[in-house]
Amino acid sequence: MNAIEIRNLTKTFGEKRAVDGLNMTVPEGAIYGFIGENGSGKSTTEKLICGLIRPSGGEIKLWGKGHRDQEVRSQIGVLIESPGCFPNYTVWNNMKLQAANLGIKNEVEEIRRVLRLVRMDGAAGNKFKNCSLGMKQRIGIAFALLGDPQLLVLDEPINGLDADGMRIMREILLGLSHRGTTVLISSHILGELEKIATHYGIIRGGKMLREMTAAELNADCPTYAALKTAEIERTRTILERAFGRAEIDGQTGEIRVYHASAEDAAKYLYGNFGIPVTEIRTAKISLEEYYIDLMRGEKQ
Ligand SMILES: Nc1ncnc2c1ncn2[C@@H]1O[C@H](COP(=O)(O)OP(=O)(O)OP(=O)(O)O)[C@@H](O)[C@H]1O
Ligand SMILES: [Mg+2]
Repeated sequence: MNAIEIRNLTKTFGEKRAVDGLNMTVPEGAIYGFIGENGSGKSTTEKLICGLIRPSGGEIKLWGKGHRDQEVRSQIGVLIESPGCFPNYTVWNNMKLQAANLGIKNEVEEIRRVLRLVRMDGAAGNKFKNCSLGMKQRIGIAFALLGDPQLLVLDEPINGLDADGMRIMREILLGLSHRGTTVLISSHILGELEKIATHYGIIRGGKMLREMTAAELNADCPTYAALKTAEIERTRTILERAFGRAEIDGQTGEIRVYHASAEDAAKYLYGNFGIPVTEIRTAKISLEEYYIDLMRGEKQ
């Protein structure tokens, strides 16, 4: 069963086509990483899915039903931009208001449950305005989790988090996913997204450029041997002649060889040319590199 199925979705603002014939499939239980450059239409798509704005055309199905269906809408938890909190109210009172808005019955229990989930139970008495950015992000997630929705739509929830905040967010989302909650998450922090996403969608100019599973991405991202020598250009030429594709990574100053093990490449260099290798490691193309390459290809 797919939690989200979008066909030919369009949203125009005046002359601007923010979403332009978009197709998207998010299987139930997925953590779907939604990626694309600034202005590509991620937030607009998410608002459309949540029924916050109306499509100009196309179809959005959630669990096979129309996305404006009341029952379906009650199963969506959303955090787009910041949670609508009153700065002078405590976290607890903000949560209480939100719970009342959603018509949640056992509110005290439910608020405790979601605050515990995001590890904010100790901060319930803090005024919202005195919370740090990371705390606010987690409160936003807690808001979205009220009522135990089956689908969470999170727009850049890890922006501005420190390493520990990212780790906590990762654990929260993985925990939810293990319980069967579907998570749609947009982010520019690809290294972080890569640690949790089971599926990806790459959007460009309001159109879905590519959708794939983490396994498909993995298969598309080759491993390589990365090594350093004193004579980088000469070494690269030698390695390319011997093993095929070899390139210099301008940032690290390493030579990447894709079709030889790090050990074989080093032995070959020293054995045949007396070139000592000063550093060596095995690595893998990251989501970020894959994405940059894909975008570069699209722009040409
Ligand atoms: N309410 C609106 N009125 C007019 N144009 C809008 C509106 N909302 C979005 N747009 C335009 O639609 C396009 C897509 O915007 P959107 O916010 O969906 O992009 P995004 O992928 O979320 O970008 P970012 O990564 O910067 O958050 C942009 O060109 C934006 O200016
Ligand atoms: Mg956005």
